[in-house]
Amino acid sequence: MKAGNGLLCSILGLASCVAFIYMSFGDLGFHAIEPKVRFVERNGSQLFVDGKPFYVNGWNSYWLMDQAVEAHSRHRVRTMLQTGAKMGLTVCRTWAFNDGAYHALQVSLGQFDERVFKALDGVIAEARTHGIRLLLSLANNLQPFGGKTQYVKWAWEEGLGLSSSNDSFFYDPSIRIYFKTYLKDWIEEMAGYVKSLDKKHLLTVGLEGFYGPTSPPEKLSMNPAEWASQLGADFIRNSKIAAIDFASVHIYPDQWFSGKDLDLDEKIKYVSKWVKSHIEDGDKELKKPVMFTEFGLSNKSKNFDHSHRDTVYKAVSDILYESSRKHGSGAGAFVWQLLVGGMEEYNDDFGLVPWERPSLYKMMKEHSCRLAAIRYGQGWARKKSKDMC
Ligand SMILES: *[C@@H]1O[C@H](CO)[C@@H](O)[C@H](O)[C@H]1NC(C)=O
Ligand SMILES: *[C@@H]1O[C@H](CO)[C@@H](O)[C@H](O)[C@H]1NC(C)=O
Ligand SMILES: *[C@@H]1O[C@H](CO)[C@@H](O)[C@H](O)[C@H]1NC(C)=O
Repeated sequence: MKAGNGLLCSILGLASCVAFIYMSFGDLGFHAIEPKVRFVERNGSQLFVDGKPFYVNGWNSYWLMDQAVEAHSRHRVRTMLQTGAKMGLTVCRTWAFNDGAYHALQVSLGQFDERVFKALDGVIAEARTHGIRLLLSLANNLQPFGGKTQYVKWAWEEGLGLSSSNDSFFYDPSIRIYFKTYLKDWIEEMAGYVKSLDKKHLLTVGLEGFYGPTSPPEKLSMNPAEWASQLGADFIRNSKIAAIDFASVHIYPDQWFSGKDLDLDEKIKYVSKWVKSHIEDGDKELKKPVMFTEFGLSNKSKNFDHSHRDTVYKAVSDILYESSRKHGSGAGAFVWQLLVGGMEEYNDDFGLVPWERPSLYKMMKEHSCRLAAIRYGQGWARKKSKDMC
Protein backbone atom coordinates (compact mmCIF):
# COMPACT_ATOMS: atom_id res chain seq x y z
CA MET A 1 0.00 0.00 0.00
CA LYS A 2 2.99 2.26 0.48
CA ALA A 3 4.12 1.37 -2.96
CA GLY A 4 1.33 3.43 -4.36
CA ASN A 5 -2.03 3.23 -2.88
CA GLY A 6 -4.74 3.34 -5.47
CA LEU A 7 -6.58 6.01 -3.74
CA LEU A 8 -7.01 8.61 -6.04
CA CYS A 9 -6.95 12.13 -6.16
CA SER A 10 -7.57 15.50 -7.22
CA ILE A 11 -5.30 17.90 -8.92
CA LEU A 12 -6.00 20.09 -5.98
CA GLY A 13 -4.91 17.45 -3.60
CA LEU A 14 -7.62 15.89 -1.61
CA ALA A 15 -7.58 14.15 1.64
CA SER A 16 -8.27 10.53 1.52
CA CYS A 17 -9.15 10.51 -1.99
CA VAL A 18 -10.80 10.17 -5.06
CA ALA A 19 -9.87 7.57 -7.55
CA PHE A 20 -11.39 7.30 -10.90
CA ILE A 21 -11.11 3.80 -11.94
CA TYR A 22 -12.23 1.96 -14.94
CA MET A 23 -13.61 -1.48 -14.99
CA SER A 24 -12.11 -2.65 -18.20
CA PHE A 25 -13.01 -5.41 -20.54
CA GLY A 26 -15.62 -7.83 -21.56
CA ASP A 27 -16.53 -11.21 -20.26
CA LEU A 28 -14.03 -13.93 -20.36
CA GLY A 29 -15.87 -15.95 -17.78
CA PHE A 30 -14.17 -18.27 -15.39
CA HIS A 31 -11.64 -19.80 -17.72
CA ALA A 32 -14.18 -19.78 -20.48
CA ILE A 33 -12.43 -17.52 -22.96
CA GLU A 34 -15.11 -16.16 -25.21
CA PRO A 35 -14.36 -14.76 -28.64
CA LYS A 36 -16.56 -11.76 -27.91
CA VAL A 37 -15.53 -9.65 -24.96
CA ARG A 38 -18.51 -8.30 -23.07
CA PHE A 39 -18.74 -5.29 -20.83
CA VAL A 40 -19.54 -5.56 -17.17
CA GLU A 41 -22.84 -3.81 -16.56
CA ARG A 42 -24.64 -2.63 -13.50
CA ASN A 43 -28.29 -3.04 -12.69
CA GLY A 44 -29.23 -1.75 -9.24
CA SER A 45 -26.89 -3.09 -6.59
CA GLN A 46 -25.40 -5.87 -8.72
CA LEU A 47 -22.91 -6.26 -11.52
CA PHE A 48 -23.76 -8.42 -14.51
CA VAL A 49 -21.98 -9.93 -17.45
CA ASP A 50 -24.08 -11.42 -20.15
CA GLY A 51 -27.19 -11.22 -18.02
CA LYS A 52 -25.67 -13.24 -15.15
CA PRO A 53 -24.56 -11.70 -11.82
CA PHE A 54 -20.83 -11.08 -11.68
CA TYR A 55 -18.99 -11.43 -8.35
CA VAL A 56 -15.36 -10.50 -8.13
CA ASN A 57 -12.56 -12.36 -6.45
CA GLY A 58 -9.74 -10.00 -7.29
CA TRP A 59 -6.26 -8.80 -6.46
CA ASN A 60 -3.95 -5.80 -6.74
CA SER A 61 -0.71 -5.81 -8.76
CA TYR A 62 -0.11 -2.12 -9.33
CA TRP A 63 3.15 -2.71 -11.26
CA LEU A 64 1.97 -4.43 -14.46
CA MET A 65 2.36 -1.48 -16.88
CA ASP A 66 5.75 -0.54 -15.41
CA GLN A 67 7.06 -4.07 -15.83
CA ALA A 68 5.70 -4.32 -19.38
CA VAL A 69 7.77 -1.38 -20.67
CA GLU A 70 11.03 -3.30 -20.97
CA ALA A 71 11.42 -6.72 -22.55
CA HIS A 72 13.49 -8.19 -19.72
CA SER A 73 10.76 -7.73 -17.07
CA ARG A 74 7.71 -8.43 -19.24
CA HIS A 75 7.55 -12.11 -18.24
CA ARG A 76 6.42 -11.04 -14.75
CA VAL A 77 3.19 -9.64 -16.18
CA ARG A 78 2.38 -12.96 -17.82
CA THR A 79 3.35 -14.98 -14.74
CA MET A 80 1.17 -12.83 -12.46
CA LEU A 81 -1.88 -12.90 -14.72
CA GLN A 82 -1.47 -16.61 -15.33
CA THR A 83 -1.23 -17.24 -11.59
CA GLY A 84 -4.33 -15.14 -10.93
CA ALA A 85 -6.24 -17.09 -13.56
CA LYS A 86 -5.13 -20.40 -12.03
CA MET A 87 -6.54 -19.25 -8.71
CA GLY A 88 -9.82 -18.45 -10.41
CA LEU A 89 -9.37 -14.72 -9.79
CA THR A 90 -11.32 -12.66 -12.28
CA VAL A 91 -10.23 -9.02 -11.91
CA CYS A 92 -6.83 -7.41 -11.33
CA ARG A 93 -6.61 -3.83 -10.10
CA THR A 94 -3.57 -2.06 -11.54
CA TRP A 95 -2.14 1.40 -12.30
CA ALA A 96 -2.88 2.96 -15.67
CA PHE A 97 -1.07 6.15 -14.65
CA ASN A 98 2.51 7.11 -14.07
CA ASP A 99 3.09 10.85 -14.04
CA GLY A 100 6.57 12.23 -14.41
CA ALA A 101 8.26 9.24 -12.73
CA TYR A 102 10.51 6.48 -14.14
CA HIS A 103 8.71 4.78 -17.07
CA ALA A 104 6.23 7.66 -16.99
CA LEU A 105 3.12 7.41 -19.13
CA GLN A 106 2.58 11.16 -18.78
CA VAL A 107 6.10 12.54 -19.13
CA SER A 108 5.12 16.14 -18.57
CA LEU A 109 1.73 17.82 -18.45
CA GLY A 110 -0.21 16.49 -21.46
CA GLN A 111 2.86 14.78 -23.03
CA PHE A 112 2.67 11.00 -23.21
CA ASP A 113 5.22 8.31 -23.95
CA GLU A 114 3.99 6.04 -26.76
CA ARG A 115 6.25 3.24 -25.53
CA VAL A 116 4.43 3.18 -22.18
CA PHE A 117 1.01 3.31 -23.85
CA LYS A 118 2.10 0.22 -25.79
CA ALA A 119 3.12 -1.42 -22.53
CA LEU A 120 -0.36 -0.73 -21.15
CA ASP A 121 -1.93 -2.14 -24.33
CA GLY A 122 0.25 -5.20 -23.83
CA VAL A 123 -1.02 -5.63 -20.27
CA ILE A 124 -4.63 -5.35 -21.42
CA ALA A 125 -4.05 -7.89 -24.21
CA GLU A 126 -2.24 -10.26 -21.87
CA ALA A 127 -5.05 -10.01 -19.31
CA ARG A 128 -7.58 -10.90 -21.98
CA THR A 129 -5.56 -13.97 -22.92
CA HIS A 130 -5.91 -15.21 -19.35
CA GLY A 131 -9.54 -14.28 -18.92
CA ILE A 132 -8.77 -11.53 -16.42
CA ARG A 133 -10.57 -8.20 -16.38
CA LEU A 134 -8.81 -5.05 -15.21
CA LEU A 135 -9.73 -2.28 -12.82
CA LEU A 136 -7.52 0.58 -14.02
CA SER A 137 -6.63 3.35 -11.56
CA LEU A 138 -6.14 6.72 -13.21
CA ALA A 139 -4.36 8.67 -10.45
CA ASN A 140 -2.96 8.29 -6.97
CA ASN A 141 -3.14 10.20 -3.73
CA LEU A 142 0.32 9.13 -2.71
CA GLN A 143 3.62 10.16 -4.22
CA PRO A 144 4.80 7.02 -6.04
CA PHE A 145 4.14 7.14 -9.78
CA GLY A 146 3.14 10.77 -9.69
CA GLY A 147 -0.54 11.41 -9.13
CA LYS A 148 -1.50 14.22 -6.81
CA THR A 149 2.00 15.36 -5.90
CA GLN A 150 3.07 15.56 -9.52
CA TYR A 151 0.00 17.52 -10.60
CA VAL A 152 0.54 19.97 -7.75
CA LYS A 153 4.16 20.33 -8.83
CA TRP A 154 3.23 20.89 -12.47
CA ALA A 155 0.56 23.39 -11.53
CA TRP A 156 3.07 25.22 -9.36
CA GLU A 157 5.68 25.30 -12.12
CA GLU A 158 3.08 26.74 -14.47
CA GLY A 159 2.37 29.41 -11.89
CA LEU A 160 -1.14 28.03 -11.37
CA GLY A 161 -0.72 26.32 -8.01
CA LEU A 162 -2.21 27.88 -4.93
CA SER A 163 0.66 26.67 -2.82
CA SER A 164 3.75 24.59 -3.46
CA SER A 165 2.83 22.46 -0.49
CA ASN A 166 1.33 19.12 -1.43
CA ASP A 167 -0.78 19.00 1.63
CA SER A 168 -1.82 22.56 2.29
CA PHE A 169 -5.30 21.21 1.79
CA PHE A 170 -5.05 19.01 4.81
CA TYR A 171 -3.93 21.49 7.42
CA ASP A 172 -5.17 24.90 6.32
CA PRO A 173 -8.58 25.07 8.01
CA SER A 174 -10.18 27.49 5.57
CA ILE A 175 -9.02 25.49 2.56
CA ARG A 176 -10.33 22.35 4.20
CA ILE A 177 -13.77 23.80 4.65
CA TYR A 178 -13.70 25.20 1.15
CA PHE A 179 -12.60 21.86 -0.18
CA LYS A 180 -15.25 19.89 1.65
CA THR A 181 -17.96 21.85 -0.07
CA TYR A 182 -16.07 21.71 -3.33
CA LEU A 183 -15.39 17.99 -3.21
CA LYS A 184 -18.77 16.72 -4.29
CA ASP A 185 -18.84 19.08 -7.25
CA TRP A 186 -15.34 18.01 -8.18
CA ILE A 187 -16.28 14.35 -8.38
CA GLU A 188 -19.42 15.16 -10.33
CA GLU A 189 -17.46 17.21 -12.83
CA MET A 190 -14.64 14.69 -13.30
CA ALA A 191 -16.91 11.65 -13.39
CA GLY A 192 -19.22 13.37 -15.88
CA TYR A 193 -16.22 14.15 -18.06
CA VAL A 194 -14.96 10.55 -18.04
CA LYS A 195 -18.47 9.32 -18.87
CA SER A 196 -18.70 11.77 -21.77
CA LEU A 197 -15.58 10.14 -23.25
CA ASP A 198 -16.57 6.58 -22.49
CA LYS A 199 -20.03 5.42 -21.54
CA LYS A 200 -19.32 1.72 -21.58
CA HIS A 201 -16.85 1.23 -18.78
CA LEU A 202 -17.90 1.33 -15.18
CA LEU A 203 -16.53 4.12 -13.03
CA THR A 204 -15.81 4.35 -9.33
CA VAL A 205 -14.23 6.82 -6.97
CA GLY A 206 -11.44 5.28 -4.89
CA LEU A 207 -12.43 6.03 -1.33
CA GLU A 208 -11.33 4.44 1.92
CA GLY A 209 -14.98 4.26 2.89
CA PHE A 210 -14.87 6.68 5.83
CA TYR A 211 -18.19 8.17 6.83
CA GLY A 212 -18.35 11.97 6.66
CA PRO A 213 -19.43 14.29 9.46
CA THR A 214 -23.06 14.48 8.32
CA SER A 215 -23.53 10.70 8.53
CA PRO A 216 -25.90 9.31 11.16
CA PRO A 217 -24.26 8.43 14.50
CA GLU A 218 -24.50 4.68 13.96
CA LYS A 219 -22.46 5.06 10.77
CA LEU A 220 -19.97 7.53 12.27
CA SER A 221 -19.29 5.03 15.01
CA MET A 222 -18.04 2.59 12.33
CA ASN A 223 -15.10 4.88 11.51
CA PRO A 224 -11.81 3.85 13.12
CA ALA A 225 -11.68 7.19 14.98
CA GLU A 226 -12.85 10.77 14.75
CA TRP A 227 -10.09 11.83 12.33
CA ALA A 228 -11.60 9.60 9.66
CA SER A 229 -14.66 11.83 9.29
CA GLN A 230 -12.48 14.95 9.03
CA LEU A 231 -10.51 14.04 5.91
CA GLY A 232 -12.84 15.68 3.43
CA ALA A 233 -14.17 12.51 1.84
CA ASP A 234 -17.65 11.24 2.62
CA PHE A 235 -18.41 7.67 1.56
CA ILE A 236 -22.18 7.93 1.22
CA ARG A 237 -22.35 11.34 -0.37
CA ASN A 238 -19.46 10.73 -2.79
CA SER A 239 -20.64 7.26 -3.80
CA LYS A 240 -24.19 8.48 -4.47
CA ILE A 241 -23.15 10.62 -7.43
CA ALA A 242 -25.03 9.38 -10.47
CA ALA A 243 -22.01 8.88 -12.76
CA ILE A 244 -20.36 6.61 -10.17
CA ASP A 245 -21.35 3.02 -10.98
CA PHE A 246 -20.09 1.24 -7.91
CA ALA A 247 -18.69 2.23 -4.51
CA SER A 248 -15.11 1.46 -3.40
CA VAL A 249 -13.89 0.75 0.11
CA HIS A 250 -10.49 -0.14 1.60
CA ILE A 251 -9.68 -2.07 4.78
CA TYR A 252 -6.41 -1.37 6.63
CA PRO A 253 -6.85 -2.11 10.33
CA ASP A 254 -3.10 -1.90 11.05
CA GLN A 255 -2.78 1.64 9.80
CA TRP A 256 -6.14 2.87 11.01
CA PHE A 257 -5.44 1.71 14.55
CA SER A 258 -1.69 2.26 14.56
CA GLY A 259 -0.39 2.71 18.08
CA LYS A 260 -3.27 0.71 19.54
CA ASP A 261 -1.84 -2.75 18.90
CA LEU A 262 -5.14 -4.46 18.29
CA ASP A 263 -4.92 -8.22 18.61
CA LEU A 264 -6.12 -10.44 15.80
CA ASP A 265 -9.59 -10.97 17.30
CA GLU A 266 -10.13 -7.24 17.62
CA LYS A 267 -8.99 -6.67 14.06
CA ILE A 268 -11.32 -9.36 12.72
CA LYS A 269 -14.21 -7.95 14.69
CA TYR A 270 -13.59 -4.49 13.30
CA VAL A 271 -13.04 -5.67 9.73
CA SER A 272 -16.28 -7.70 9.79
CA LYS A 273 -18.26 -4.75 11.12
CA TRP A 274 -16.73 -2.44 8.49
CA VAL A 275 -17.49 -4.80 5.59
CA LYS A 276 -21.06 -5.48 6.73
CA SER A 277 -21.76 -1.80 7.24
CA HIS A 278 -20.70 -0.89 3.71
CA ILE A 279 -22.63 -3.75 2.14
CA GLU A 280 -25.66 -2.51 4.05
CA ASP A 281 -25.04 0.97 2.56
CA GLY A 282 -24.92 -0.57 -0.92
CA ASP A 283 -28.12 -2.54 -0.34
CA LYS A 284 -30.20 0.13 1.36
CA GLU A 285 -28.85 3.60 0.79
CA LEU A 286 -26.77 3.65 -2.40
CA LYS A 287 -28.49 0.82 -4.28
CA LYS A 288 -25.16 0.23 -6.00
CA PRO A 289 -22.57 -2.55 -5.88
CA VAL A 290 -19.77 -2.17 -3.31
CA MET A 291 -16.22 -3.38 -3.97
CA PHE A 292 -13.52 -3.70 -1.33
CA THR A 293 -10.74 -2.65 -3.68
CA GLU A 294 -7.84 -2.93 -1.22
CA PHE A 295 -7.44 -4.91 1.94
CA GLY A 296 -4.47 -6.38 3.72
CA LEU A 297 -2.45 -6.79 6.89
CA SER A 298 1.00 -5.30 7.44
CA ASN A 299 3.81 -7.69 8.35
CA LYS A 300 5.25 -4.89 10.48
CA SER A 301 2.51 -5.03 13.06
CA LYS A 302 3.22 -6.49 16.48
CA ASN A 303 2.93 -10.30 16.72
CA PHE A 304 2.35 -10.57 12.98
CA ASP A 305 1.98 -14.08 11.71
CA HIS A 306 1.26 -15.14 8.10
CA SER A 307 -1.78 -17.08 9.30
CA HIS A 308 -3.38 -13.74 10.31
CA ARG A 309 -3.73 -12.87 6.63
CA ASP A 310 -5.60 -16.14 6.10
CA THR A 311 -7.95 -15.26 8.94
CA VAL A 312 -8.69 -11.79 7.58
CA TYR A 313 -9.14 -13.15 4.07
CA LYS A 314 -11.60 -15.71 5.35
CA ALA A 315 -13.58 -13.14 7.33
CA VAL A 316 -13.87 -10.75 4.37
CA SER A 317 -14.58 -13.41 1.74
CA ASP A 318 -17.19 -15.19 3.89
CA ILE A 319 -19.20 -11.99 4.32
CA LEU A 320 -18.98 -11.27 0.60
CA TYR A 321 -20.02 -14.80 -0.21
CA GLU A 322 -23.11 -14.47 1.98
CA SER A 323 -24.01 -11.20 0.27
CA SER A 324 -23.52 -12.75 -3.19
CA ARG A 325 -25.68 -15.73 -2.31
CA LYS A 326 -28.49 -13.35 -1.47
CA HIS A 327 -27.78 -11.26 -4.58
CA GLY A 328 -26.78 -8.37 -2.37
CA SER A 329 -24.50 -5.44 -3.14
CA GLY A 330 -21.25 -7.03 -1.92
CA ALA A 331 -19.66 -7.27 -5.36
CA GLY A 332 -16.12 -8.34 -4.55
CA ALA A 333 -12.79 -7.86 -2.82
CA PHE A 334 -9.19 -7.28 -3.93
CA VAL A 335 -6.25 -8.39 -1.81
CA TRP A 336 -3.45 -5.83 -1.47
CA GLN A 337 -1.07 -7.02 -2.96
CA LEU A 338 0.26 -9.93 -5.04
CA LEU A 339 3.69 -10.11 -6.66
CA VAL A 340 5.86 -12.67 -8.38
CA GLY A 341 9.31 -13.63 -7.09
CA GLY A 342 12.32 -11.31 -7.36
CA MET A 343 10.37 -8.04 -7.03
CA GLU A 344 11.53 -6.81 -3.62
CA GLU A 345 11.74 -3.18 -4.75
CA TYR A 346 8.03 -3.29 -5.67
CA ASN A 347 7.02 -4.88 -2.40
CA ASP A 348 5.78 -3.24 0.76
CA ASP A 349 4.79 -4.64 4.13
CA PHE A 350 1.55 -6.01 2.65
CA GLY A 351 2.91 -7.93 -0.35
CA LEU A 352 3.00 -11.65 -0.89
CA VAL A 353 3.90 -14.12 -3.60
CA PRO A 354 0.85 -16.41 -3.80
CA TRP A 355 2.63 -19.74 -4.32
CA GLU A 356 4.78 -19.06 -1.26
CA ARG A 357 1.62 -19.01 0.92
CA PRO A 358 -0.16 -22.31 0.18
CA SER A 359 -2.94 -21.94 2.75
CA LEU A 360 -3.96 -18.50 1.48
CA TYR A 361 -3.58 -19.65 -2.12
CA LYS A 362 -5.96 -22.54 -1.43
CA MET A 363 -8.48 -20.31 0.31
CA MET A 364 -8.51 -17.81 -2.56
CA LYS A 365 -9.08 -20.60 -5.04
CA GLU A 366 -11.94 -22.00 -2.96
CA HIS A 367 -13.56 -18.59 -2.82
CA SER A 368 -13.27 -18.31 -6.63
CA CYS A 369 -15.00 -21.68 -6.92
CA ARG A 370 -17.90 -20.88 -4.66
CA LEU A 371 -18.48 -17.56 -6.46
CA ALA A 372 -18.39 -19.36 -9.81
CA ALA A 373 -20.95 -21.83 -8.47
CA ILE A 374 -23.33 -18.94 -7.72
CA ARG A 375 -22.79 -17.42 -11.14
CA TYR A 376 -22.97 -20.57 -13.22
CA GLY A 377 -24.65 -23.11 -10.96
CA GLN A 378 -23.07 -26.00 -9.07
CA GLY A 379 -23.07 -28.29 -12.07
CA TRP A 380 -21.18 -25.80 -14.23
CA ALA A 381 -18.63 -25.13 -11.57
CA ARG A 382 -17.97 -28.84 -11.16
CA LYS A 383 -17.77 -29.59 -14.87
CA LYS A 384 -16.04 -26.54 -16.32
CA SER A 385 -13.60 -25.89 -13.59
CA LYS A 386 -12.85 -29.43 -12.51
CA ASP A 387 -9.14 -28.79 -12.47
CA MET A 388 -9.64 -26.04 -10.00
CA CYS A 389 -12.67 -26.74 -7.87
C1 LIG B 1 -32.72 -4.49 -14.10
O1 LIG B 1 -33.37 -5.25 -13.10
C2 LIG B 1 -34.76 -5.03 -13.08
C3 LIG B 1 -35.31 -5.71 -11.85
O2 LIG B 1 -34.81 -7.03 -11.74
C4 LIG B 1 -35.36 -5.54 -14.38
O3 LIG B 1 -36.75 -5.37 -14.40
C5 LIG B 1 -34.73 -4.76 -15.53
O4 LIG B 1 -35.18 -5.28 -16.76
C6 LIG B 1 -33.22 -4.84 -15.48
N1 LIG B 1 -32.66 -3.91 -16.45
C7 LIG B 1 -31.77 -4.28 -17.35
C8 LIG B 1 -31.30 -3.21 -18.27
O5 LIG B 1 -31.37 -5.42 -17.45
C1 LIG C 1 5.74 17.43 -2.15
O1 LIG C 1 5.97 16.04 -2.05
C2 LIG C 1 7.20 15.63 -2.60
C3 LIG C 1 7.24 14.13 -2.51
O2 LIG C 1 7.03 13.69 -1.21
C4 LIG C 1 8.38 16.28 -1.88
O3 LIG C 1 9.59 15.88 -2.48
C5 LIG C 1 8.23 17.78 -1.98
O4 LIG C 1 9.26 18.39 -1.25
C6 LIG C 1 6.87 18.20 -1.45
N1 LIG C 1 6.71 19.62 -1.64
C7 LIG C 1 6.61 20.46 -0.62
C8 LIG C 1 6.58 21.90 -0.97
O5 LIG C 1 6.54 20.08 0.52
C1 LIG D 1 7.70 -7.81 5.40
O1 LIG D 1 7.61 -8.17 4.02
C2 LIG D 1 8.57 -7.55 3.20
C3 LIG D 1 8.26 -7.93 1.79
O2 LIG D 1 8.16 -9.31 1.64
C4 LIG D 1 9.97 -7.97 3.62
O3 LIG D 1 10.93 -7.34 2.81
C5 LIG D 1 10.18 -7.60 5.06
O4 LIG D 1 11.42 -8.08 5.50
C6 LIG D 1 9.07 -8.17 5.95
N1 LIG D 1 9.20 -7.59 7.26
C7 LIG D 1 9.13 -8.32 8.36
C8 LIG D 1 9.22 -7.57 9.64
O5 LIG D 1 9.00 -9.53 8.32
